[in-house]
Amino acid sequence: MKYPFQCFLAKIILLALASSFVSCYDPSPLQDYCVAVPEKNGVFVNGEFCKDPKLVTSDDFFASGLNIPGNTNKRLGSFVNPANIPGLNTLGVGIARIDFAPGGLIPPHIHPRASEIILVIKGKLLVGFVSSNDYNYTLFSKILYPGDVFVHPIGLVQFHANIGKTNAVAIGAVGSQNPGYISVGDAVFGSKPPIDPKILAKAFALDINIVRYLRKVFSPQDDIVND
Ligand SMILES: *[C@@H]1O[C@H](CO)[C@@H](O)[C@H](O)[C@H]1NC(C)=O
Repeated sequence: MKYPFQCFLAKIILLALASSFVSCYDPSPLQDYCVAVPEKNGVFVNGEFCKDPKLVTSDDFFASGLNIPGNTNKRLGSFVNPANIPGLNTLGVGIARIDFAPGGLIPPHIHPRASEIILVIKGKLLVGFVSSNDYNYTLFSKILYPGDVFVHPIGLVQFHANIGKTNAVAIGAVGSQNPGYISVGDAVFGSKPPIDPKILAKAFALDINIVRYLRKVFSPQDDIVND
């Protein structure tokens, strides 16, 4: 009568293996919570080290300050303030306040590890994302007013722009504690060391001097002598 049990066990193991292939980011937590603690001496884990559950308090799941406007006085006229909540470690969620000056924008970018839902609180935002090659680079875009929400799927190029005359405020909720951020402009024109300008000129059908100019915009701190 041992066989059925072994078979059952094998099925469980197979199921466990199969699910490890599908949940390849922000894995399902194996505990109620794992409040992050700074830990210097240890090996890297996928997330942060957990606080002793007996020491966890309500404050570990709390943050405030998302009522405070961020400083948008920068080239792109926007500011992102992600809520810093130790208790969201391993839970696969995150939230941020995004401020926009008139004309301000979050430029074309990718969140490699999360989809994002944006909720407009104030102002008038033009938001959108572009599908991949498989779906013919289709632009999906909307003008959002207070109370409107829009979803940006994981891994696709997206942008948010204030097209109103006033400041705008939005809340971005993401499906990862660490969604990641890849600015297309910074990655392409601001990499360190830089991508060969001849390659960028050909890839983007640009004059090489425009590529050099873009490098100055995207890596202003770099000392660009000649390349
Ligand atoms: C993409 O374009 C191809 C070729 O025109 C077409 O067959 C296909 O249906 C399109 N796919 C989508 C998702 O639009």
